[in-house]
Order: sequence, then structure tokens, then C-alpha cells
Amino acid sequence: MGGVTDREADSAAVPATPFDLASMRKQYRAEGLSETELAATPVEQFARWFKQAATDGGLFEPNAMVVSTADAQGRPSSRTVLLKHFDAQGFVFYTNYDSRKARELGENPHVSLLFPWHPMARQVVVTGVAWRTGRDETAAYFRTRPHGSQLGAWASAQSTVVAGRRALDAAYAELVARYPEGEQVPVPPHWGGFRVVPQAVEFWQGRENRLHDRLRYEAEADGGWRVERLSP
Ligand SMILES: Cc1cc2nc3c(=O)[nH]c(=O)nc-3n(C[C@H](O)[C@H](O)[C@H](O)COP(=O)(O)O)c2cc1C
Repeated sequence: MGGVTDREADSAAVPATPFDLASMRKQYRAEGLSETELAATPVEQFARWFKQAATDGGLFEPNAMVVSTADAQGRPSSRTVLLKHFDAQGFVFYTNYDSRKARELGENPHVSLLFPWHPMARQVVVTGVAWRTGRDETAAYFRTRPHGSQLGAWASAQSTVVAGRRALDAAYAELVARYPEGEQVPVPPHWGGFRVVPQAVEFWQGRENRLHDRLRYEAEADGGWRVERLSP
């Protein structure tokens, strides 16, 4: 089962795409990224790039990242999630603990985070292991969320099939009646954070003629980081 097979025979049946995808390409003229300018740790380097992305990167949501997980059989799945905190301990996002991603992380804690900073011709890929954040940390973040988002966390059984939009709106309306604006909303037990502890972080800078810079930090047993350049 699975694997790559030759699908050439089927392609004649596929209608032509309305765009000439084969000729869609951009030339990246950005400044390079060199070993000498890299920070000592990937989190410090991430902080530098994140600051640039958030200030003049031309990005709508620089903290939006693609989180990829895999189940116990290694079948992958991806989705966009917002990064809510990062420091030397790792990268934190919040979600529903009954969701597909959380279920997969329970079976297999290996995870990849990808920051697609296209307007800057940059990409950061973090690979590591995800741990649930403590309840105190989760509660502290939950309290900072707008009232409506707090209720939304209760209203949605994320990743399950819902009868229709009306059912979702009805669940939300019930919660608004129970917890009007100004009333404290309890933290849902099925909701919380994951902290991704990085094992490797790759910084990718697009360059001319597809000769991009790829510098990867890898965690070493003594707590330090090894930096290697990868071929683009
Ligand atoms: C820009 C953007 C930001 C999102 N942020 C979050 C988030 O912080 N947490 C979350 O659980 N889902 C977030 N989502 C929704 C997820 O992409 C996804 O639909 C949801 O988490 C269910 O994923 P799953 O069924 O694979 O677990 C976001 C989606 C987008 C497009």
C-alpha cells in the first residue's frame, strides 16, 4: 500500500489548469545569510528574523505557521496555527486537545513548524518534540484572549463533524447567555498549549538563480548547537 506510483496514464484525463504554473517563478534578490552573522542559538536567530518579519516583512500574520504532525503509522497532516510565545524553552501554540493534531501528537510527539515568510523570500523550519504546557501557563494565556475567543474554545469540538453552521452558532449563543461579557469564562479542560522543543531549526533565505542560503542548527548532546550549510 502507498508509495509513489506512475500516474502518467491518468494525466490525460485531467483538464488543463487555467494558469501557466510551469512558468510562474520569481527571482529572489535578497541579501544572503552567512555563518558569520548567525546568532549563537536558533531561538536568538529566530528572534532576529521574527522582528524583521513583524516590522517590515510585509506579512499579514508573521506568527502564522504550518504545523505538521503524523499519526502512529507515520501518516502526515498539516494545518496553520498561530505561534503565541517563544523563548529558549521552545515554541508555543494553543489548540483543542481533542483535535486531530493533538490526537496525533499524543501518539507521536514529533512535529514540524514551518514559517512561510514568502514576501521576504524566507522560510524557517523547526523540527522537534511537542509537550503540553502546564495548566497554569495555559490559564494565564487563556485569560489574555478576547471574551469571544474564550467562548469559541468552549463552543467548538474542533476537528469533529458538525451538523451545520446553525448548530455552531446555537452552541455559541448558549455560551454567550451563560457567560455574558465581563463574566469570567473557565478554561476548557480540553483546550491548552503545546510547547515544541526544537531539535533542529533551518533558516532559508532565497537568493538569485536558486542558489539559496540554508543554514541549519542541530541540537548537540552537551546542549550546544551545531550549524551546517545545506545545499539549496
Ligand atoms: C491563520 C490561521 C491561524 C490559525 N490559528 C489556529 C490556532 O492558533 N489554533 C488552532 O487550534 N487552530 C488554528 N487555526 C485553524 C487550524 O488551521 C485548523 O483548522 C484547526 O486547528 C483544526 O486542525 P486539525 O483538525 O488538524 O487538528 C488557524 C488557521 C489559520 C488559517
